[in-house]
Amino acid sequence: MPVPERIRWGVDLLDPGPAETLLEVGCGPGVAAELVCARLTTGRLLAVDRSPAAVARTSRRNAGHITAGRLTVRQASLPDLEVPDETIDAAYSINVNIFWTDPDGPAVAGLFRALRPGGRLLVLYGADAPTTGSRVTGPIAAAMSAAGLVDVAVTEGAGGSGVTGRRR
Ligand SMILES: C[S@@+](CC[C@H](N)C(=O)[O-])C[C@H]1O[C@@H](n2cnc3c(N)ncnc32)[C@H](O)[C@@H]1O
Repeated sequence: MPVPERIRWGVDLLDPGPAETLLEVGCGPGVAAELVCARLTTGRLLAVDRSPAAVARTSRRNAGHITAGRLTVRQASLPDLEVPDETIDAAYSINVNIFWTDPDGPAVAGLFRALRPGGRLLVLYGADAPTTGSRVTGPIAAAMSAAGLVDVAVTEGAGGSGVTGRRR
């Protein structure tokens, strides 16, 4: 599967450090996970998806990264995902609907708790998705601010649009 523009854009925006602990929500076929893991040395990525088929696809595509200990793939659904508090340097999602269908629900607040102080959250949508534009990013930005994230910003790029913020 070729790398879609939204994935390249999203991973560049995430800019994972080689030693960071990262969380992807809704990894789908695992294309972003592959690009992220390629940038890690001692860092680790936990990729989750509620779909068993997506978990299988991500695991198949990234078998080498799993063997190397850089990647863990888990079937889990937001907001029920259990991650220890304050352990994640950056959490991200690309084209995952829950953040805009239920922006005031527990998903954003749950991820906030998982972030270390200074940790980043990126909720991104590809330009090719029907879920792009301010009707999506506005409520997500408001939910991030309400959850206590700072430096909340709407971002637009060639690959799509989204909202970024960080824990103080
Ligand atoms: C449109 S696909 C995007 C996949 C990938 N991020 C991409 O951009 O190619 C959305 C993925 O998020 C997963 N997903 C949707 N809602 C979810 C939730 N609440 N918790 C975990 N995964 C979810 C779906 O199963 C699906 O694999």
